[in-house]
Amino acid sequence: MDTLSEQCEAVLKLNDHSKYTAPGPRLYPHQWLWDSAFAAIGWSHIDTKRAKQEIFSMLDGQWSNGMIPHMIFDMHPKYAQDRGTWRSWVSPLSPNHLATSGITQPPILAEAVSRIGAQLQKPQRQQFYKKVLPALIKYHQWLYTERDPHNEGLVLQIHPYETGLDNTPPWMTGIREHNRPWWIAAVEKLHLDPLINVARRDTRAIPPNQRMRNIDALVIWDVIRRLRRKHYDIDKILHRSLFIIDDVAFNSIFIRNNTILRDIAAEARIKLPEDLTDRMKRSEQALESLWDDSFNVYFSRDFITNHLLKEPTVASLLPLYAGTISKERADKLVKVLTNNHVFWLKNPVPSVPRNVRRFDQDRYWQGPTWINTNWLLIDGLERMGYKNESTALKSHTIEMMRQHGIWEYYNPLTGQGLGSPDFSWSAALALDLLNT
Ligand code: GLC
Repeated sequence: MDTLSEQCEAVLKLNDHSKYTAPGPRLYPHQWLWDSAFAAIGWSHIDTKRAKQEIFSMLDGQWSNGMIPHMIFDMHPKYAQDRGTWRSWVSPLSPNHLATSGITQPPILAEAVSRIGAQLQKPQRQQFYKKVLPALIKYHQWLYTERDPHNEGLVLQIHPYETGLDNTPPWMTGIREHNRPWWIAAVEKLHLDPLINVARRDTRAIPPNQRMRNIDALVIWDVIRRLRRKHYDIDKILHRSLFIIDDVAFNSIFIRNNTILRDIAAEARIKLPEDLTDRMKRSEQALESLWDDSFNVYFSRDFITNHLLKEPTVASLLPLYAGTISKERADKLVKVLTNNHVFWLKNPVPSVPRNVRRFDQDRYWQGPTWINTNWLLIDGLERMGYKNESTALKSHTIEMMRQHGIWEYYNPLTGQGLGSPDFSWSAALALDLLNT
């Protein structure tokens, strides 16, 4: 057996909390939504029962309105502070038997379910699909009813964590410009931000130049506080606008997972509500409104002003994963992706392109290469017929991991591993790449 495969399997086992896979040791003890979906894809190559468990435990956190939260907390008393940051119990919609966050994350569960399904015999597959479909359908319906209030086809995000790309530049610029409270401006002006280190667990374990800046962390924390004060009630949240985005990565992932949901339902012989399938179709067209002719990529959009947020990131390329864009658009994206002054660096694909001011090679979602976004691009390129590019990105990714190990993210110029070591989704998705 390939040694990288063995290492990947060992990482998943190391982070296995029996009902769910923690993203990484120490720093990430709880369950996260898209991490669990990626972990399930990895587990599907080792143990399908364990892979299914990953999905069931995520669905166990579903709110009564259909939202699947981005985090489910470990209930150990030592994590009371983490649970207290979100206080999901302030919403009557949150489950009583556990504590969760009050927002969601990229909806990639249908993808994970179908990858597990692919490893099962037909009767078991149908049985599994039937079991999870009600919750998945409810989740996709919730995304439309609550997050697409004007019936435009795109769903909005209320917190940068919902995109999974926490401190991604367009969000950080937007929040700073729109709703930074006076006291955060004062902290910055008086250079008091180093004091925030006291409250940060991540910068104690990991060099601060690899994590988000203190000011960004504070701004992000403040958005949680505001959402919590509104008890995660979407009407209250939309009423006095926070900074809200139609994120291009989130919507691309949603569109692809809508397609998969339709396939899963067809296989389980379950009819999706017509209203849902109508809205799915509208989303495919609406994605086009995020295209920008001058940069030749897609951008996220400010939900309130309708302006595109023209800061390119890896999210700008993810419509390739959506699978519904035209060949003409895809060709242009692939051109930008494979430009070696922009995204095609020695260890592609950086979260922010090298040719922009915000590129910061070691800092979290502001430059480093992440395995999950590579996996999404590899999958999208392959499905859209860009076999050479897909194969090249796959071998770059595997080679980088063979050389540098299994990390949360990587320096796109040197390949050095950054952030948390032994990171679950890097292991899970490498395992998938090695097996497909
Ligand atoms: C960070 C990442 C997010 C991930 C979480 C747990 O917040 O930005 O995408 O889900 O860590 O790994």
